[in-house]
Amino acid sequence: MDKKELVYEGKAKKVFKTDDPNLLIVDYKDDATAFNGLKKGTITGKGVINNQMSNFLMQIIEKDGIPTHFVKELSERETLVKSVTIVPLEVIVRNIAAGSFAKNYGVEEGIVFDEPTVEFSYKNDDLGDPLMAPSHAIALKLVTKDELNLITDYALRVNAILKDFWKSRGVTLVDFKIEFGKTADSTIILADEISPDTCRLWDSETGEKLDKDRFRRDLGGVEEAYAEVMKRLKENDK
Ligand code: TMP
Repeated sequence: MDKKELVYEGKAKKVFKTDDPNLLIVDYKDDATAFNGLKKGTITGKGVINNQMSNFLMQIIEKDGIPTHFVKELSERETLVKSVTIVPLEVIVRNIAAGSFAKNYGVEEGIVFDEPTVEFSYKNDDLGDPLMAPSHAIALKLVTKDELNLITDYALRVNAILKDFWKSRGVTLVDFKIEFGKTADSTIILADEISPDTCRLWDSETGEKLDKDRFRRDLGGVEEAYAEVMKRLKENDK
């Protein structure tokens, strides 16, 4: 399958057309941004890790009955995916207080919740991806009520799958962001990526951060953290 014209270039990925209108090729870059693009940098090797990790995790999720965009890994950085119209909602699931949750409510990072939380942000860079009430997403016709219920159900199931998976690798899944898309026949499927860019992953024993917070917060050891979490992914169950 050959790459045709570039259809979209985001902060971390390029998306190309193919001969098949239902399929696209995603090409993962090493570019990293934070705070809506205010902070820019490069994480060497990130594109390869995010591509391979996302594909591995999407396949586990697909096996558990949640449809995803994954079709085939084409190279270290490139993957063939189903073409979708992205639902302009960032779906965030949290198991432990961290990041904006801790900041917004003035609590310490690390509080473990009894039940996971689900929230939505409106995917709109000009507005800074504001938090969005579910009823507002429906009012703006970004999704129907049924679609939002399905997305919420999928997000919680993805959380259960990923939490268990990472636990078996000695890693705690703190929170993550996922995105969904709609195929030509209006099926909602999991799209975008699942990687250390989009998840908080803490070493279960030491609590060490093994994700993009090392870049966001200038903690150092960014490449090493990505490499470590990729190594864990490939380990057999502990
Ligand atoms: P937050 O605590 O900053 O709201 O982030 C929640 C989760 O979402 C965290 O795992 C990082 C991820 N995330 C993204 O993938 N993209 C973003 O633009 C932001 C702000 C967070």
